[in-house]
Amino acid sequence: QAKCVALTFDDGPSRHTERLLDHLAAADTPATFYMLGQNAQKYPQTLRRMVVEGHQLGSHTHDHKALTSLSSSQITHEIDTAAAIIKDLSGIYPNTVRPPYGAHNTQVDALIDAPLVLWDVDTLDWKHRDPAKVASIAMQEVRDGSIILMHDIHESTVKAVPELVKQLKRQGYTPVTVDELFDGQDFNSSTAYTSRNQIR
Ligand code: NI
Repeated sequence: QAKCVALTFDDGPSRHTERLLDHLAAADTPATFYMLGQNAQKYPQTLRRMVVEGHQLGSHTHDHKALTSLSSSQITHEIDTAAAIIKDLSGIYPNTVRPPYGAHNTQVDALIDAPLVLWDVDTLDWKHRDPAKVASIAMQEVRDGSIILMHDIHESTVKAVPELVKQLKRQGYTPVTVDELFDGQDFNSSTAYTSRNQIR
């Protein structure tokens, strides 16, 4: 059976996302985008392209506040605002949520009527901005069922993707969307996952 991995891109869309979609299309590789509602509003055509090209759209809240620092009504507002914008622009309701900074607790979990999707492979792309490092960190840490965290607001990350996908495929990994990664597995609302079968 093939090893699967989910490539995930946070904080966009940005002016670099169309180039990323070009790379993913050339490699026939799906990804999942944890986008901010406020950025989705600036790139409606990019959202529609993601849908047409088989990518998954997820919510990273409206404007990237740490949900653990908000009141219940503020948390609900962050989630509902982003979901409404993404649904309105793309026709797709974002059925999974990635909380900013991975920050969540039992109160946050209870208020989110969707699985919370975290990650087990952190490329630290925002910190080093080095395409070669994105690929080398990911290849060192990846295993079957992994969720890889990257950010499509950095050009260096977009540049890393062709080589990363090539190396993953060479190692026998099939890139899939988050929904595909969890297909046939428990994948429940108000529950945080760091990889397939791993709850946090
Ligand atoms: Ni983020």
